[in-house]
Amino acid sequence: MNIILIGFMGTGKSVVGRLLAHELKLDFLDLDSLIERTEKKSVSQIFKENGEGQFRDLESRVVKTLQDYDKFVIATGGGVVLRPENIAALKAAGKLVLLWAEPEQIFERTAKEKQRPLLNVADPMSEIKKILAGREALYRQAADLTVDTTGLKVEDVVREIIAWLK
Ligand code: S3P
Repeated sequence: MNIILIGFMGTGKSVVGRLLAHELKLDFLDLDSLIERTEKKSVSQIFKENGEGQFRDLESRVVKTLQDYDKFVIATGGGVVLRPENIAALKAAGKLVLLWAEPEQIFERTAKEKQRPLLNVADPMSEIKKILAGREALYRQAADLTVDTTGLKVEDVVREIIAWLK
């Protein structure tokens, strides 16, 4: 069994995942980093050179390999819920924890970073609201647990997840 973090960009999946893995003495796996290591390219580069469609194919391929993992905390990319086959594979591999955040908080957390191709646009706030609205139902339906991280510290989020696991 694995614990799999899903949720929008900037909800803290990687940072929460690392601390959660440390606290539970599990290994940590970040799917975007795994794609970057196998492709020897950054996610931004893959989007730019190959397009989003090819990134989604790589993402689905990596998600399928999760059946070989056990006792990991796994952070996924924000768009992993877009394909029903991904959700099915994630559910077969572990418990899904949704990290939720309000658009304003997502904007604050992602504003300074440029490595997210989907938010590298003239008006990122509108883009966040638009993409989040399109995905909200997918995130919520897939989740076994939802943690609203708005205003919470990483430690608080980790504590909530551990309390739920017990
Ligand atoms: C994406 C989220 C990113 C990354 C890619 C696409 C998305 O991951 O997979 O840029 O569609 O929401 P993070 O959620 O880790 O930023």
